[in-house]
Amino acid sequence: MSSLSPARVVNIDDLRQMARRRLPRVVFDYVDGGADAEVTLRGNAAAFEAVMLRPRSAVRIPPARTGVSVLGQDLALPFLLAPIGSSRLLWPLAEAVAARCAGEAGTGYILSTLSGTPLETVRTASRGPCWYQVYLCGGRDVATAGIARAKAAGFSALVVTIDTAVAGQRERDTRNHIKALVGSSLVAKLPALPQILARPRWLLDLIRDGGLMRFPNVVLPDGPLGYSDVGPLLAQSVVCWDDLRWIRELWEGPIVIKGVHTDDDARRAVDAGAQAVIVSNHGGRQLDTVAPTLRVLPEVVAAVGGQVEVLVDGGIRRGGDIVKALCLGARAVLVGRAYAYGLGAAGGAGVARAIEILRDDLVRTLTLLGCPSVDDLNPSFVTLPRDWR
Ligand code: LAC
Repeated sequence: MSSLSPARVVNIDDLRQMARRRLPRVVFDYVDGGADAEVTLRGNAAAFEAVMLRPRSAVRIPPARTGVSVLGQDLALPFLLAPIGSSRLLWPLAEAVAARCAGEAGTGYILSTLSGTPLETVRTASRGPCWYQVYLCGGRDVATAGIARAKAAGFSALVVTIDTAVAGQRERDTRNHIKALVGSSLVAKLPALPQILARPRWLLDLIRDGGLMRFPNVVLPDGPLGYSDVGPLLAQSVVCWDDLRWIRELWEGPIVIKGVHTDDDARRAVDAGAQAVIVSNHGGRQLDTVAPTLRVLPEVVAAVGGQVEVLVDGGIRRGGDIVKALCLGARAVLVGRAYAYGLGAAGGAGVARAIEILRDDLVRTLTLLGCPSVDDLNPSFVTLPRDWR
């Protein structure tokens, strides 16, 4: 029986456990962890469990239709693979692998600026839509060069992340000595070595993949950005609403604002000329104790009033979660950890299994809900907790 057979990998958490067994703790925790006390990390998932589904039973429906159009791009599924920085720590050439899997499933992939794989390689790996997520690391000129490369390579939307004025406090990363591990001092790495040596298969994969990579899509005067410079450069390159003016001059295609968390910011994003917003708290990795994204979604949908498309991410592990987000007004969702666990467990096979789990879940949930299509989902299919405003 294959290690990824449905009997062995029933749900996303099974992929998470496989990833935990294959990855060094420092790498697993980088993906699995959140900021500070991880209140928002837990809250994102808990919010989906708090919303109840209201089925229409005793109805016969044709095979449920799952396709959506996002930014004018037709997707076979109402979920895209979210940008995940440093994915290449999870699997060799992980960004290109994940993009290929997304394309094969008929959906889109969003590449992080902090990718270990050149964006041109990622674009050619997928036959589906690829969007480029932008941090202004290195300043305007460096970011301009990256955006120009993304445009030339054929990325079809620009995702501007606005919730990362500084990196969130990831306490697990601190305890795991992540800065020492990615730094230049060999001596400083010593306390972290036992966890690396405890994962020889992963270590061999990393060495064969060229070792600890730099970030080839952020080219500074002295070469590609290195790991130890990410934090300081993020802090020096805060994205502000005014930046959307020059970014719009560079990019004629759709602009998506990621990290919207209030109705006020949603309206600011519309005024700034965005075509879509992503309700996101960065997977609970930035400002802790902000509200779960599912709880904020209705406020943002109401604020934009149909002027722009609304997507949402954070805590999505099951098809039912996707259905609830669409019922509350999301055009589509992003999934991050759900496929990252697949990468860490088994590379492309793990990503493909993650997508298959979510797709099968989604179709089953629609059928049991008595809803023939994701286009027909609306708030009448859910009951919100009484204490949600
Ligand atoms: C993170 C940044 C890279 O969440 O987006 O780690």
